[in-house]
Amino acid sequence: ERTSHNDAYTDALRFDRHRRLRTSAALRDLVRETHVSKDDLIMPVFVDATISGSQPIASMPGISRFGLDALSGEIDEIAQLGIKSIIVFGIPDHKDDTGSDAWSDDGIVQRGIRLIKERHPELVVIADDCMCEYTSTGHCGIVRDGEVLNDESLEYITRIAVSQAKAGADIIAPSNAMDGYVAAIRAGLDAAGFAQTPIMSYAVKYASSFYGPFRDAADGAPQFGDRSGYQMDPANRLEALREAASDEREGADFLMVKPAMAFLDVVREVRNASDLPLVAYNVSGEYAMVKAAAANGWIDEDRIVKETLTSIKRAGADLIITYFAKDVASRIDARK
Ligand code: PBG
Ligand code: ZN
Repeated sequence: ERTSHNDAYTDALRFDRHRRLRTSAALRDLVRETHVSKDDLIMPVFVDATISGSQPIASMPGISRFGLDALSGEIDEIAQLGIKSIIVFGIPDHKDDTGSDAWSDDGIVQRGIRLIKERHPELVVIADDCMCEYTSTGHCGIVRDGEVLNDESLEYITRIAVSQAKAGADIIAPSNAMDGYVAAIRAGLDAAGFAQTPIMSYAVKYASSFYGPFRDAADGAPQFGDRSGYQMDPANRLEALREAASDEREGADFLMVKPAMAFLDVVREVRNASDLPLVAYNVSGEYAMVKAAAANGWIDEDRIVKETLTSIKRAGADLIITYFAKDVASRIDARK
């Protein structure tokens, strides 16, 4: 009696049967909304003027710095995996007040880019345009009386961009967080004959603790203070929209949000506010946390990485800069 009462009750109910679309792997494949492909991935590469061969980065297992003599091997691997783009960072053999190695035509990044483009002209080479690895202060701009100067730094960030474009960089990615850098770089590139070179702006760059391992990797930690006078406060959302809007007005061709995982709401907001291609940077600290937990056997790395990158795309990113790019590309090849 009780049973027939329950059947009648269930019968009378009208509710959605979401589980109908989850009954087999093939069906789930058919209705999946978000996909990560190799075309979405950008692999970071560290070129180091102070070493020959390669040197593993302790806080980023699986990632190394490469001397110029060892760079080709790494780039060949990346290209063979079908990754179409890399972002290049340099570690110079000397630092000074103006970060001169960053804008020298013979600087470490310029030499690295020439080598890469000679060997793999098809690879889209993005050049990170910043000063912190090159200045003796470890700050992203020119420092006077303990202050990082905005307008004075624009001249240098523009010089860097032009020398990187001359070396063969396909895209310039300024990350020093000075106001007006997109306008300054655009004018500089145009005047130097690089009107066709796009700018990928680190438009929404937070002053984040997630950059810790990178600063070991690229030897670019500030020697005094921190970056909160020029990078954004992680508490701010509306300010992210103002940053994105001004970079778009200044002529940015891509916008970036950085870091990714703790800022996916911001990725979505910028996606909704702009039609430009949107990049999310899955930064060094995000990578290190996953690697450390996986090394302890606490999480399933492959599945965590897939879920993370899928979520970054679901939030609205078109492209992801990630230290997992090679791993993911090889798993895509293995259909895992
Ligand atoms: C340079 C720069 C940084 C990162 C990319 N470009 C460090 C910083 O701003 O301190 C961080 C990347 C990462 O953590 O993976 N300005
Ligand atoms: Zn910097």
